[in-house]
Amino acid sequence: MKPKVLVTREVFDEVLEYLSQHFEVTSNQSDVPFNPETLAVRLSDKQGALITLSDRIDEALLARCAKLKAVCNIAVGYNNIDLEACTKAKVMATNTPGVLDDTTGDFTWTLILSTARRLTEAESYLRKGEWDGWKLKQFLGLDVHHATLGIFGLGRIGQVVARRAVGFEMNVIYHDVRRAAPEVEQVCRAGFVNKDELLAQADIVTLHVPYSSVTHHLIGKQELERMKPSAILINASRGGVVDDAALISALRSGTIAGAGLDVFENEPKFNPGFLPLKNVVLAPHIASSSKATRLKMAMLAAQNLVAALTGEKPPNLLNPAGNPH
Ligand code: 8YV
Repeated sequence: MKPKVLVTREVFDEVLEYLSQHFEVTSNQSDVPFNPETLAVRLSDKQGALITLSDRIDEALLARCAKLKAVCNIAVGYNNIDLEACTKAKVMATNTPGVLDDTTGDFTWTLILSTARRLTEAESYLRKGEWDGWKLKQFLGLDVHHATLGIFGLGRIGQVVARRAVGFEMNVIYHDVRRAAPEVEQVCRAGFVNKDELLAQADIVTLHVPYSSVTHHLIGKQELERMKPSAILINASRGGVVDDAALISALRSGTIAGAGLDVFENEPKFNPGFLPLKNVVLAPHIASSSKATRLKMAMLAAQNLVAALTGEKPPNLLNPAGNPH
């Protein structure tokens, strides 16, 4: 008898084929996210699950899933999983680090350039038929070349973003809970500064930290007030790292010049205060969304699930203490 697993959202056929070689698979190809009750019911007789950020794995759910041995996130971020509760319940949890760094770094640059050069605002003006000719002062933006790029979190994705700054001949500074190794600083050409120095000096502030109680509202009213009025804020990390209400006020009042956002508090019901603002570029959590990368992420999650349920150590195990082997 093959172990039973649940795939909570739509995935590529290749992934289902691979999983079917090892498991009896129930999938949700209709892609409607399960609410917590449905998720608990669907998972109650399963040994494993391929999940995404829309699935909350906590103590209450685990108490109803006695057979569960592994939850494998199709994401590098895992703030949807209560790791402690998983460890207590002897459930292995995994994520997908590495495979999305370049694609997420590329998209960060998409947000940097489109926000600095006001691309979505200008395109919407053109589409509305409002363009009546060239003007010297039309859509004056911020120069990215030779500007100071301030990176919060010089981890895998932060490093990709820093390395791509070389082509724009930028001054790169960063802040992190720990200073990076000298060789990382050298490759990234990035100088360590404290939080206040980063906020005060950067023309572009970009966030690449994981979400946790420590990074909750890392950027709020005070931090926004420390930024230059000409500066822009980029967030392709997690909703909740930025206080969205404070950011909306700052964008409205001109405390900062603009923002480029891929993630929000309370996704997908994000704060409607962003919608009328012209100085914000908005994207629906797509930073890792290239076809190749999303396939790699789903496949890596599937490989973690196969390893977990066949007595191997999953390559991206987050809670070694949750591993019964
Ligand atoms: C995922 C992400 O696509 O990996 C992450 O942490 O933010 C995205 O790349 C998303 O979380 C879906 O689970």
